[in-house]
Amino acid sequence: MTTTTAMSLFEAIGQAPADPILGLTEAFRADANPGKINLTVGVYQDESGTTPVLACVKEAQRQLLQVETSKSYKPITGDPTYGRLVQELMLGGDHEIVTSGRACTAHTPGGTGALRVAGDYIHHNHPDATLWLSAPTWANHEQVFAHAQVPTKTYPYFDLATNGLDFGVMRDAIKAIPAGDVVLLHGCCHNPTGVDPLPDQWAQIADILINNGVLPLVDFAYQGFGKGLTEDTAGLQQLARPGQEMIICSSFSKNFGLYNERTGAATFVARDADAAGRVFSQVKRCIRANYSNPPAHGGAIIAVILEDPQLRSQWQHELTQMRERITGMRQLFVEMLKDHGVKRDFSFIKQQNGMFSFSGLSREHVETLRRDYSIYIVGSGRINVAGITPDNIDALCQAIASVLD
Ligand code: LMR
Repeated sequence: MTTTTAMSLFEAIGQAPADPILGLTEAFRADANPGKINLTVGVYQDESGTTPVLACVKEAQRQLLQVETSKSYKPITGDPTYGRLVQELMLGGDHEIVTSGRACTAHTPGGTGALRVAGDYIHHNHPDATLWLSAPTWANHEQVFAHAQVPTKTYPYFDLATNGLDFGVMRDAIKAIPAGDVVLLHGCCHNPTGVDPLPDQWAQIADILINNGVLPLVDFAYQGFGKGLTEDTAGLQQLARPGQEMIICSSFSKNFGLYNERTGAATFVARDADAAGRVFSQVKRCIRANYSNPPAHGGAIIAVILEDPQLRSQWQHELTQMRERITGMRQLFVEMLKDHGVKRDFSFIKQQNGMFSFSGLSREHVETLRRDYSIYIVGSGRINVAGITPDNIDALCQAIASVLD
């Protein structure tokens, strides 16, 4: 055996910081405390603390096993049927955007994959555009767009004093964004705050972006987790005005429970079908140079479910159950904090939408909860309410009461 003395490229590489969300899940797994509680990553858990495979998904998989004949590559942008179904789910089958063909949808590996495709497309085709992110936003947004070499800035969003949307300040900031830039909006269930614009505020946001020639990029990862499948499209419907362009990045990790199947979509809405076709040709190049073509299984499951009326209604029922369990936990969490003697008013948690609650707990509180109680919460104070169960809520509230003392 010979050893080499040639220069090492890898020796000088430094350690990257742990991911602010997924890194905590790794730390949670390594924690030996049997009473540990994981409220970090946005993954739904049922009453028993497990993340179930939905019954409709099980049935769709069973059917797929019977009919599957090939594992050959999918088209670069995935199956057109999947693309159509995604558009119909977001906008309704008779929406002008769907029927006119002025939108093209690519099947992507998860919502993160969709964001990266959007980022690559923006970088290569709109190199002068800056992308505006809400402050705060999902911890991975900045990194995804930095890797795609899209410059980012932030616009104000959340008011810490009221634990609500700072709408006036947000609106003024959005008004000042130059034409040709891109604004990322969370379609519903804003991550991390759980605070969404009201329908009338969405209308004002849409007016500003449209009048000022600013492109909306909607991150749509929680449809059905807020108020309902249709209700959660209120913002999207405002933006989807005649002739208006936009990009929509969808994730089906949460609402179909398909986390590890990496199932998402990037939809590009152009002014007309011709422009959409040209944009899509550029999107294809970005995808081909990145992951070539999408993984098939998750998209196939979704297509089976959405095209079968019985499975579709079963899915809607299961989604409603998940949403209602989270809403129930929000109520109970607020009540039990009070019962444990917490003086601070946490009632705002009941108004927030989706999986997350921006709890207002400080970094120090979060650190103490982890160190002394093995309770894992994202450093910003974001709690995954879908990780609270009847079995862990008492210990959780007791611990929060102790750190707030
Ligand atoms: C989250 O915010 O926890 C989810 O979107 C999952 C993730 O990948 O971070």
